[in-house]
Parts: sequence; C-alpha cells; structure tokens
Amino acid sequence: MDKKSALKVAVMASGGGTNLQCLLDRFPDSDSSDAAARVVLVVSNRPGVGALDRAGRANVRAEVVNPDEFDTPGQFGESLNSLFSGMGVGLVVLAGYLKKVPENVVAAYSNRMINIHPALLPSFGGKGMYGRRVHEAVIASGAKLSGPTVHYVNEEYDRGPIIAQRPVPVYHDDTPEELASRVLEKEHELLPEVVEMIATGRVEVVDGRAQVKRD
Ligand code: GRF
Repeated sequence: MDKKSALKVAVMASGGGTNLQCLLDRFPDSDSSDAAARVVLVVSNRPGVGALDRAGRANVRAEVVNPDEFDTPGQFGESLNSLFSGMGVGLVVLAGYLKKVPENVVAAYSNRMINIHPALLPSFGGKGMYGRRVHEAVIASGAKLSGPTVHYVNEEYDRGPIIAQRPVPVYHDDTPEELASRVLEKEHELLPEVVEMIATGRVEVVDGRAQVKRD
C-alpha cells in the first residue's frame, strides 16, 4: 500500500489511550509502512492526557480541541471538520472519547466515524454508559457474556450500525475492574482489525446495517 492510497485516520481520545496505542503500532504514520491505514492525527478534548503523550512518542500530530472554548457545538464541529478535511482524514476513530461529537461532524463523517464501546451493544449503551458503569451494569444484569463492540457513529449514542463484536465470559464473582480488563484485552485486538477491514474496503452500510465481507 503506497503512502498516497493509505486511509488517513484521526483518533479522538480523552484518556490514557491504550486503544490508540494499538492503532499507532499497527498503522504508523511512516513512509516505511505499507499498512492500509495511517494514524495521522490525535485529538483530545483536554491537555495532559496519556493519549497525547502516545501521539508525541509516535511522531503523530496531536491537537487539543476543547469544546468548552467554543460558543456553540456547531462552532466546535466546524473547527474539527476543518482540521480533518485539511489533513485529508478519511476515517475518524473514537477511542475513549468522552465528549459529545457535534452533529455537523457526525454528518460530515457519516459512515466514516467509528466508536469502540466496552459492552455488547445494543445492550449496556447510551448516554452516561461509559467506564466502570458499563461493567457494573453488565455484572448486575447477570449476563454471562460481555465484550467490545465497534460501530459507526450516528446521531444517537451507541446506536449506529454495529461492525464487529468480540465476546468474553462474565464470571459470577467478577469485579467491574476484572471484567473491564478482560474486555479491554479484546478491544486491543478488535479495533485495529476493524480499521484494517474498513481500510481494505470490506465494510459497507446497507439499509442502516453494516455488512462485512467474509474472508
Ligand atoms: C475503552 O474501554 C473504550 O471501550 C471506551 O473507553 C475506554 C478507553 O480506554 N470507549 P483507553 O483510553 O483506550 O485505554
């Protein structure tokens, strides 16, 4: 895959960025890489987070875009859209991004923006369902399976077309932390796999559902 045809990926992250790291490792922004995608930009809503350090170590452009510094969500979105389009970003990945993505960005990146959620959607998602709360809810429900979901982002929290999921067991005596770490291990496999599938043209959205071409 030559440099020009590789899919340019922007990753948005609010925290430590372990999922981001997996993407940086697999899709480096380097001329010597022949990967199908390149992570060219990392955006965080706040300074000082691990995700920005990881971008710096990988020599990837890192930007802090703080939604609170804009008068309206629309202006925040315009600033993101112009950053992305200026760099030729073809895919936006939300990897632990905790702020609402403005509607004009969701519209501009319809079927070109994905999110990773640490439970099997459509259960255990929606507004306020992030971090420890997700795993607490899974354990409290008595469900015997959990695991990450990667889906396209639409206007509704965690309701866009599901691209891929990876199940893990839930044990009766799990703590939220134990379950979170079992799920996170699978997130680190699944997210790069999905980016690869998208970059190689294997995912299509038809009638609101994502279809993944079989190998
Ligand atoms: C992950 O659990 C992901 O599913 C969720 O936020 C967490 C981010 O973790 N959306 P990290 O910052 O990638 O380590």
